[in-house]
Amino acid sequence: MKIKELKKAAVNFGTPIYVYDLSIIESQYRKLQNAFKNLDNYKIHFAAKSLSNISVLKFIKNLEIGLDAVSIEEVKIGIKCGFKKHEILFTPNGVNFSEIKEAKSLGVKINLDSLESIKDFSENYPNDPISIRINPGIYAGGNEKISVGHSNSKFGIPEEFISDLIKMDKENRINVTGLHIHTGSDITKNNEFEKGIKKIFSTATKFKNIESIDLGGGIKIPYFSGDTETNLNDYAKAVEEEHNKFKNNTGKKLKIIFEPGKFLVSDSGYFITSVNYIKKSQNNNFIQVNSGFNHFLRPTLYNSYHEVINLSNPNDQKEECTIVGYICEKDTLAEKRMISKISKGDLLCFKNAGAYGYNMSSNYNSRLRPAELCIHDNSIKKIREKENLEDLLKNQIDIF
Ligand SMILES: Cc1ncc(COP(=O)(O)O)c(C=O)c1O
Repeated sequence: MKIKELKKAAVNFGTPIYVYDLSIIESQYRKLQNAFKNLDNYKIHFAAKSLSNISVLKFIKNLEIGLDAVSIEEVKIGIKCGFKKHEILFTPNGVNFSEIKEAKSLGVKINLDSLESIKDFSENYPNDPISIRINPGIYAGGNEKISVGHSNSKFGIPEEFISDLIKMDKENRINVTGLHIHTGSDITKNNEFEKGIKKIFSTATKFKNIESIDLGGGIKIPYFSGDTETNLNDYAKAVEEEHNKFKNNTGKKLKIIFEPGKFLVSDSGYFITSVNYIKKSQNNNFIQVNSGFNHFLRPTLYNSYHEVINLSNPNDQKEECTIVGYICEKDTLAEKRMISKISKGDLLCFKNAGAYGYNMSSNYNSRLRPAELCIHDNSIKKIREKENLEDLLKNQIDIF
């Protein structure tokens, strides 16, 4: 962790602020390349929903990573950043068909996730190949909100309808060339990944023109020393083994796609706040910072753990404290933590803030979104301005 640079960034640009160290994104990508080196045809597509600042996306594009988009806006941002149409995958959920039509006209690959949208697609583009997201019927992921591959989830084509699709494909009523699954986020148990991998490869054998499978995201990184993480080598080995079985059974090879979000950018991001007050009560030592869940939602929404470093005084005696925001409801950012002694005005840095950090921020309480910076080639650059009052008001219409 680059404490000196992070402190400099906060002092020079003010707080709250998001800072991304681009070298960490690159080193995370190299780890994936290393783990997947025995796969003969694979591609990494970055899940743009986790962090979509255009400078970060361009950096990622230059590493020759593709894009995974969830909305037509992410598709368009990707195109603006220079991703080629074949480098963009669009996996929407429950969108109006007009969005799918627009993506089709832009030429990107689409993963359809309901029978209803497949029907519309086949009527509009009768002979075109399709890629479909299936629901693998697996409960996996760090918490209930991010477990999306189980049978009660709204995502993917329910297992009970897959046989209908296989029949339609056999009868040439549809032409399935791609299969997709995304089981959840923060998956540590490799057997949960393995179940999904087995499921998608075995389903793939049933579609005569299948060319690619997409294993989604979900790779877990550790959030503190000793925390669990996905074993990348075991993950890669499971993919390789199932692919080998598929090749032996069918005599065909598949392109394999991965869509990591957190794995690529979580570690690269730091969210830095300043201490307004230290408010003591009988049972608590509340550290009140100049932010809240409006800027950093994950601790409140998912109860996620983010290590906190006191940048102003990193090596003092540790004291127990609870870090809270200024929002008008409970917005605990870190509960009952032992942190190096904190004083009013200190800079507190939340680690692992790169993924779903800025991208989940809002203007709640009419607060302004913060600036974003990056550390690249030994310099700190601003990559997004902090909002101002005019930004808050610009689309509002005063009818009086
Ligand atoms: C379809 C899809 N792919 C990839 C991802 C990225 O997941 P993660 O950030 O856990 O890698 C998500 C996350 O919601 C997703 O919905």
